[in-house]
Amino acid sequence: TDQAHIRNFCIIAHIDHGKSTLADRLLEFTGTVSKRELLEQTLDQMELEREKGITIKAQAVRMKYTAQDGQEYELNLIDTPGHVDFAYEVSRSLAACEGALLVIDATQGVEAQTLANLYLALEADLTIIPVINKIDLPSADPEKVKQEVEDVIGLPKEECILASAKEGIGTVDILEAVVKQIPPPAGDPAGPLRALVFDSHYDAYKGVIAYVRVVDGVLHAEEKVVMMATGSATEVLEAGFFHPRLVSSGELTTGEVGYIATGFKNVKDCRVGDTVTVPGALGKAQPLPGYQPAKSMVFAGLYPVASEDYPELRDALERLKLNDAALYYEPETSQALGFGFRCGFLGLLHMEIIQERLEREYNLDILATAPSVAYLVTKTDGEVIEVDNPSEMPSAGEVEKIEEPFMDISIFTPSRYIGTIMDLVTTRRGIYVDLKYIESERVLLTYKMPLAELIVDFYDQLKSRTQGYASLDYNFAGYEASDLIKLDILVNGVAVDALSLIVHRDKAYYQGRALVEKLRGLIPRQLFEVPIQAAIGSRVIARETVKAMRKDVLAKCYGGDITRKRKLLEKQKEGKKRMKMVGSVEIPQEAFMAVLSLG
Ligand code: GTP
Repeated sequence: TDQAHIRNFCIIAHIDHGKSTLADRLLEFTGTVSKRELLEQTLDQMELEREKGITIKAQAVRMKYTAQDGQEYELNLIDTPGHVDFAYEVSRSLAACEGALLVIDATQGVEAQTLANLYLALEADLTIIPVINKIDLPSADPEKVKQEVEDVIGLPKEECILASAKEGIGTVDILEAVVKQIPPPAGDPAGPLRALVFDSHYDAYKGVIAYVRVVDGVLHAEEKVVMMATGSATEVLEAGFFHPRLVSSGELTTGEVGYIATGFKNVKDCRVGDTVTVPGALGKAQPLPGYQPAKSMVFAGLYPVASEDYPELRDALERLKLNDAALYYEPETSQALGFGFRCGFLGLLHMEIIQERLEREYNLDILATAPSVAYLVTKTDGEVIEVDNPSEMPSAGEVEKIEEPFMDISIFTPSRYIGTIMDLVTTRRGIYVDLKYIESERVLLTYKMPLAELIVDFYDQLKSRTQGYASLDYNFAGYEASDLIKLDILVNGVAVDALSLIVHRDKAYYQGRALVEKLRGLIPRQLFEVPIQAAIGSRVIARETVKAMRKDVLAKCYGGDITRKRKLLEKQKEGKKRMKMVGSVEIPQEAFMAVLSLG
């Protein structure tokens, strides 16, 4: 297609504002897919995505649209991940576009990710088309949302397109706006090849499939190419586009979006953000801006419940890693849990997804330790080390300074919740930055807060304290020194490495006490008495005791009711599933996560 008739765009939105539904409507209207095919959910392919209702992997679909000017256009819709953990992937997807539909729910208005995504789109210099969706709902208030678009986003309210993705209202207006307002791709068709990789996935038959946007030149099948950042070279096995399934077309011209089958066996050879070029252009063509390796922010130990499953866990992680360059892992040994892996994730959602896939797709029973952040520790001898496992924190005497990652966080909320949110953030060591009124009853609060406090149940707390009304977004702000110490937990007199944690000195006593209390409730009674202690260095600061089991526990509650007895036994069996023998004491999975609910 000639460049003037190409439009590359994406849809950005806060979660649940209707991004996928609108994408479906566009695909259906342009005849790209039929209604029946849509039922099979074309854009969100992974089962997990569907269940969690979120989009994880960016994808691209090509549509043909004959506009009201009588001309036929090639529209490439690039799907973007909807969750803040994947902000880097979002920004790469945006870099492949010239425009964005900014979808806003007419019943909700502007939310945290509406703005976060908007900022990313503005950074990428995209033309923004505001779409107010769900106008079919009785509680929709399009006029109010229009005003928000003008006040908060800074676009004239007349530019808003009113739509219902569900009912198909506004579809034509949206497609016309895409054609008229979004500029065609610039780029030099005669220049040396440069194509941006904005996503990739591993396919068992074709090797790594890279999703690319050709910026300059033409990309041909059967051509030798090189990845500028990684230096990996290969021959393009196939080139084409998504319609929505792969259609091999032999080439991708300047400005086009599509895929290449690379033959690479691992996505790390073909990272998101890298530039594809031909060997002859190396040294002449500049790499496209923006390549940066994904950075793990959250770390946890993953251990097989049954130690003989260790090789299977290793294989499963290796397989997942093939398709997920952001997943990091290395072998780790815990005195308490045996052999396992230290894993690094983009954020909590990423961690949850990996855990679920290990369990569901690989049938593994795994035990996860509480998530931790990576600390920068300056030792008294001047050496600086990164510590992402609390049990590996050097003893207090060896530590000069500990720095921890801080996040800039923004919270959108009805103003009636300001008090409770301030309260929550303050107990999490948050530092107030700003409060801005979006309209008379809604505010944008900004804070700086340690990531370690954010990953401990913060989002759930925020949601429950605001009846689900508040929305949250966060970005890495940098490392800062904090007064942190290591808290050890001793079970039956033995320190359990997988239970140690790093806490702020001011909160150590409170957290130590709360944690042993919680553990007392979680660790089942044994045949002997089990003391649980929290200690800082050699100083015990809290103690609880799990009383010894009475041997007649079953006989006692039996009382003639057979079903009750069976229930009790079944319950015990269930509880057994995620238990780990630590020394002579059984510790359940929940115990390792107890720290998450301390607040
Ligand atoms: P993520 O993929 O999680 O980011 O969500 P999304 O933005 O893609 O939202 P999705 O399209 O899944 O829509 C969220 C919910 O809103 C679904 O239950 C849709 O059926 C519903 N929905 C979307 N558009 C409309 C609309 O125009 N009207 C009404 N009434 N409901 C809609």
